[in-house]
Amino acid sequence: MRLLILGTGWMAEQHARQFGSIEGVELAGAVDIERSRVDAFSDVHGIANRFTSLEDALDWGKFDAVANVTPDRIPHPTTMTLIAAGKPVLCEKPLAENYTKANEMAAAAEEAGIINMVNLTYRNVAPLQKARQMVLAGEIGTVRHVEASYLQSWLVSQFWGDWRTDPKWLWRLSRGHGSNGVLGDIGIHILDFASFGAALDIDNVFCRLKTFDKAPGNRIGEYQLDANDSFAMTVDFSNGALGVVHASRWATGHVNELRLRIFGDKGGIEVIRSLNGSDLMTCLGKNIDNGDWETLDAGSVPTNYQRFADAVRTGQPPEPSFRHAAELQKVLDLALVAEEKRTEQGVHADTE
Ligand SMILES: NC(=O)c1ccc[n+]([C@@H]2O[C@H](COP(=O)([O-])OP(=O)(O)OC[C@H]3O[C@@H](n4cnc5c(N)ncnc54)[C@H](O)[C@@H]3O)[C@@H](O)[C@H]2O)c1
Repeated sequence: MRLLILGTGWMAEQHARQFGSIEGVELAGAVDIERSRVDAFSDVHGIANRFTSLEDALDWGKFDAVANVTPDRIPHPTTMTLIAAGKPVLCEKPLAENYTKANEMAAAAEEAGIINMVNLTYRNVAPLQKARQMVLAGEIGTVRHVEASYLQSWLVSQFWGDWRTDPKWLWRLSRGHGSNGVLGDIGIHILDFASFGAALDIDNVFCRLKTFDKAPGNRIGEYQLDANDSFAMTVDFSNGALGVVHASRWATGHVNELRLRIFGDKGGIEVIRSLNGSDLMTCLGKNIDNGDWETLDAGSVPTNYQRFADAVRTGQPPEPSFRHAAELQKVLDLALVAEEKRTEQGVHADTE
């Protein structure tokens, strides 16, 4: 598979490293609107063909598939162009800024029969996959309650640099730059983590969002800092279970941590993913009476990058698909409506 990387910023490094290590995958070309960035990136990863526009790369055309690693409002127009050109796409999350656009992307890919996948990174976490298998096998009985959090601390720490001066953090804080804040950025990760792990869909959502003061006039240069940086959500799952899902960039002491706790009537499961690795813990059988937890070995699972490469090779549609990301985007859109109206929103209301 000859791969084109579209957008050569921070996350593209991960794509280049991961795809570069897969047998049969060649990093054939790279595109970035910033000439200096695409050159520096291509030098590091040994990429010969460099472009400053997608149109130029399409005129060249010598690639089989694309990793779209552009900022949140760029994947929609560029992916629509790529689908029209018949190119399989692994698109970064979130698929688009809203459900309407995400749905358009899913529909276009489905109609064209193009391999499409969204990089919900935490599907690579073996304990999450194992947790889902255990839930589906009935090991914890009927799920009653789910607690999920995604905690980051980059607004209070320097671990990933200074958000006040780094464009990759500033665009994430600004609605005018296409960001839906923490909800749009990592909300989709934690909703997927919770609903995939618990093997349940979300039926209703209520959400509160906060955007805290961060700079004089809440502006730094061209960036108006108006995108939310903390949210707390309650959800009903399809089987009637209750869930609480929250995320923040103000979680002092937690650089990047996802946690999922699933409580059933026969047992509990906990998954934690942080920069230190991931863990799976269960409370089952006799342990329930004393509230004792055991750590399990979840083994390993193929990465999204590997599964995308396999899908392009075999023609078998991979998961998570654009359709799945669009459905999650619907919940995120409704979370914004819930905050505005201060009322719970039904995810399937338009189809009932
Ligand atoms: N899956 C994950 O865990 C994960 C982690 C980080 C970021 N992301 C996602 O990856 C995407 C990129 O994030 P990032 O942190 O790398 O941002 P970034 O700002 O570091 O990089 C984005 C790059 O895209 C380039 N770009 C902008 N418009 C373009 C266009 N029209 N054509 C080509 N290039 C263009 C920019 O010049 C920049 O170099 C975002 O959608 C983000 O949500 C996903």
